[in-house]
Amino acid sequence: MTTALRNFHTSSAKLHDAAIVGLHADGQLLVPRSIAANGKESLTTILKAAGAKGKAGESRVFYGDFGLGSEVQKVAVVGLGKQGTSAAAKDRVRAAVATGVKALKAQEAKDIGIAGMGHDQAAAEGASLGLYNFNYFKSGKKGAAEDIKISALDLESPDEIQAFKNGLIQAQAQNLARILMETPANHMTPTLFAERFLKEVEALGLEGNKLKVHVRDQAWAEEHKMGAFLSVSRGSDEPLKFLEIQYEGGKAGDRPLGLVGKGVTFDTGGISIKPSANMAAMKGDMGGAATVAAAIWGIAALNLPINLVAGIPLCENMPSGRATKPGDVVTSMSGKTIEVDNTDAEGRLILADALTFISKTYKPHTLIDLATLTGAMDVALGGAYAGVFSTSNSLWSELDAAGEEAHEAFWRMPLHSVYLPQITTNTVADLINTGGRSAGSCTAAIFLREFVHGVERDDGFAQAEDEPSTEVGTLLETTGDVKVGSVRYAHIDIAGVMDTTSNAGYYAKGMTGRPARALIEFAKKFSSN
Ligand code: BES
Ligand code: MN
Ligand code: ZN
Repeated sequence: MTTALRNFHTSSAKLHDAAIVGLHADGQLLVPRSIAANGKESLTTILKAAGAKGKAGESRVFYGDFGLGSEVQKVAVVGLGKQGTSAAAKDRVRAAVATGVKALKAQEAKDIGIAGMGHDQAAAEGASLGLYNFNYFKSGKKGAAEDIKISALDLESPDEIQAFKNGLIQAQAQNLARILMETPANHMTPTLFAERFLKEVEALGLEGNKLKVHVRDQAWAEEHKMGAFLSVSRGSDEPLKFLEIQYEGGKAGDRPLGLVGKGVTFDTGGISIKPSANMAAMKGDMGGAATVAAAIWGIAALNLPINLVAGIPLCENMPSGRATKPGDVVTSMSGKTIEVDNTDAEGRLILADALTFISKTYKPHTLIDLATLTGAMDVALGGAYAGVFSTSNSLWSELDAAGEEAHEAFWRMPLHSVYLPQITTNTVADLINTGGRSAGSCTAAIFLREFVHGVERDDGFAQAEDEPSTEVGTLLETTGDVKVGSVRYAHIDIAGVMDTTSNAGYYAKGMTGRPARALIEFAKKFSSN
C-alpha cells in the first residue's frame, strides 16, 4: 500500500496546467499578485458573462491561461461567500479549495496552482483533504490523485509560507487517520496498525530522538495486570498491541499532555454479537486510535514545543471458545473489578486500563481519550458534533475553540457522578460495563473517569480544594465528589462523526478521520500558552 502522504509544494513551481482562483460574494476576485492586469480583466469579464456570484459552494472551470502562467489551461473559480476573518470564513476557503481541486481533478489536471485565498492554512487543508481518495484496493489504480501536484501561486512572507505548510501537514494527518480507519480490518490488525504507524513516523526522521514509540505485547499487558484490556482481546486469534508513545518537544521535566485512543480494529460485539447489517463499519472502531496516532504524527511533523504521551490499546473484539462471556468478572489494572454484562461494551474496558496506565505512569496535566464508544452518541448528536465529557471547564473551552478553528465541532455533554449508580448497582463487582439504555453515552463516560488516576472532579458536586488527592479506588464514594486531583480529563465520543455519506467540499464518503485536525489545533494553542 502506498503511503498517505503526498508531495506538496509551497513554492510556485514554474509550470502549472491548472489554477484555482477565489471569488468573494462582493465580487472581489482573489488573483495572484503576479497576474497581469489584462488577465484579471478578461477573467472578470468571463465571470460576469457566466453569472458567477461568488457564493460559497459555487465552482466553475474556465479554459485559458488568463495571465496565470503560459502553461495554465484550466482555471477553477471557486465561490468564497462573504469575506472575513472568522473560523466560518476560513472554512468557506477550506471547502472552496477542496471543491476546486475536485473539479480540476475531474478535468485531469496534474499540476494545480492555488492563488492566495487570504487564509493560507485553510486553503492548503482544503487542497490536501479534497484530493483524498481510497483506491488502494482497486486493482489497476494506484490512487489517481497521487499524481496531482499542488502548490501555492504567490506566497510571499515566511508567515504565509509557514501557514500553507502547516495546513498541508494538518490535512495530511487527517488523511492518514482516514486511511487507517477505512482500511479493511484484515489489512489493519493491531499488528499492522502498529507497523503502519511506525512507518509513517519513521518517514519524519524523528524516531528515537524526540519521538519514542514502544509497541507493547500481550506479555507486557499481563505484567501490568491489564485484565480489562486482556478480556476483550482474548476471543481473537490476532495478538493485541499497546502503543506507548512519547513525544518530547517541550522542556525536559514538564508534565505532558496525555492522549488515549480506542483501537478496536474490528468490533463484532464478541459473544454479545452485533446484528450483521452495517457491521462492516466496525472496521472504523479504531477511530480513536487513528485520530490520536494522526495527531501525534502531525504534532511531531510541526515540531510543536510540547511534551506529549499517548497510550493506544489495539485489539479485536471477537466471539470464540476463549472469548469473555456475559457475566464474567475481570480485574482492571486499577484494581477495580468489572462485571462484563455485555461484551459489546468493550471500548470502555480497553480504555480503562489505558487511562490508568497513562495517568499513573506519566502524571499528565491534561488527559484526553478519543473513542468510537457508543451508538447512543450518534443518536444524540449525529455527525455534526463529537461529544466532549470533561471534568474541567477550562479544558472544555480550549477544546471548543480548537474544534471551531478546525471546523470539527464539539458539543459538551455531562460528565457527572449522577450517572454512577447506573454502573455501580446491580452487579457482583465494583462496576458493571453497561448502564442500561438510559443516557448510554453518559454512563460510558462516567465509567471511564473511574480509571483516571488523580482526576479532578469538577462536575457540579460539592467541591473542596484542600481535600487529599484522589487515588484510583475511590469508586463508590458518590458523596466524595470533590475537586481533589490534578489532571484535567476529557473523554471525546466520536462514534457519530466516525463516518459520513457526504462528498461535499473537503468531505469524502466513508471514514472521516475526525477530529485529527482539531486535536492538532488544540495542541498548538496549548503550546503557545
Ligand atoms: N463500537 C461500538 C459503538 C459504535 C456504534 C461506534 C456505532 C460507531 C458506530 C461500541 O463498542 C458498542 O458496541 N457500544 C454499544 C454499547 C452498549 C452495549 C452498552 C452500543 O453503543 O450499542
Ligand atoms: Mn462494541
Ligand atoms: Zn466498539
